[in-house]
Amino acid sequence: MKLDLVVRNARVATASDVFECDIGIADGRIAALARQLDGATTIDAAGRWVLPGGVDSHCHLDQPMTNGSRMADDFRSGTLSAACGGTTTVIPFACQMKGQSLRAAVDDYHRRAEGKALIDYAFHLIVTDPTPAVLREELPQLIAEGYTSFKIYMTYDDLKLNDRQILEVLAVARRERAMTMIHAENADCIAWLTEQLVAAGQTAPRFHAAARPMLIEREATHRAIALAELVDLPVLIVHVSGREAVEQIRWAQGRGLKVFGETCPQYVFLSDEDLDAPGFEGAKCICSPPPRDKANQDVIWHGLENGVFQVFSSDHAPFHYEGPHGKRIAGNDAGFHEVPNGIPGLETRLPLLLSEGVLQERIDINAFVALTATNAAKIYGLYPRKGTIAVGSDADLVIWDTDREVTITNSMLHHDVDYTPYEGRVVNAWPRLTLSRGEVVWSNPSPQGAPGRGQFLKATRR
Ligand code: URP
Ligand code: ZN
Ligand code: ZN
Repeated sequence: MKLDLVVRNARVATASDVFECDIGIADGRIAALARQLDGATTIDAAGRWVLPGGVDSHCHLDQPMTNGSRMADDFRSGTLSAACGGTTTVIPFACQMKGQSLRAAVDDYHRRAEGKALIDYAFHLIVTDPTPAVLREELPQLIAEGYTSFKIYMTYDDLKLNDRQILEVLAVARRERAMTMIHAENADCIAWLTEQLVAAGQTAPRFHAAARPMLIEREATHRAIALAELVDLPVLIVHVSGREAVEQIRWAQGRGLKVFGETCPQYVFLSDEDLDAPGFEGAKCICSPPPRDKANQDVIWHGLENGVFQVFSSDHAPFHYEGPHGKRIAGNDAGFHEVPNGIPGLETRLPLLLSEGVLQERIDINAFVALTATNAAKIYGLYPRKGTIAVGSDADLVIWDTDREVTITNSMLHHDVDYTPYEGRVVNAWPRLTLSRGEVVWSNPSPQGAPGRGQFLKATRR
């Protein structure tokens, strides 16, 4: 067999196994896992982990906002940043604006990605306006065309659905075998608490957490699970932040319901103390749900260890700290309720979890691969092309350095955001080399490969 590239002496981990071998690559796919392979080019990975490229199944790129704020990353900078951090597949969102057809939203996002993506991408839909045409025609057609997952919101005025609408969308997901992601926070509770905080002049960034306490996430998580149970449908609860929501998911899983859980770096590496940074600095960490306290961080770590969570994604939602279109859109001392929600994290997701999860022995290497690549590929219909190291899979591989300290600074990252919430944090893992379909897209410290080489991936149904 003629191989284009051989990665020699790889210490491979998949979601289930660890083994040493050479990885033979032909035509962008893994063609052989064996010893002593010969190829036109070779890369020696001796002594290093070679892991499946990450699948970041929750990130927001170039998503138009209704309040005039602007996302800092488009598909060029976002996918570049992902590749440099060891991610080889992203699943951002094609978000329907109220009044817009879903098809128009999908076409718009394809135009945004076209010619820019460095790595492969699929799309989740965000359904905000489930009209009869959307439910009866557009959703079934789009699912058949490879958009097999969608997110629905229980909060944010421009995005949220009421319970009746949620049931109608879930019923389509059941009939068409699509996967539904739910943002579970109680919108009315948030509005009521926010009104009181603002009236009392309590508008500093730290009050974002007071407006969205754990209880309102717990209530919405329970309701989302109940609605899914009524329709008899698997669902995935996204960006779970702490104990009370974890308890709801564990309770549902214990009853045999197919409820998946996703959490993100901000719920183990940030806390309410970061929201309480001096001046307006806390706005850098305003995201929803908010980072909780240290006790909740421990609960999330346990959930990553014990299988409550299947997915560890970034929820990259990039806004500048400085300038008129980001966190300061409503002014230099804007109230927490006027600050765009979201933090950057595409490039730091995998180094943080490999360093603090695996090297600190909180989770094993197989769990790392499952949480960061394999499970998302399976849940969202991209497996086995993506998310594993197997003969026939795309040669999306990352060779990791785990033997030196790296101090994270924003200047070393490749996103277009002017800050990272992880500034100054020391990790012991960083990608040495990232391969996407057998092509080098990151060779530390240099990005490689041309924007636009990334391919759109049609996802299969459940
Ligand atoms: O604060 C967040 N998470 N912003 C991104 C949008 C979302 O809800 O995921
Ligand atoms: Zn969300
Ligand atoms: Zn999100």
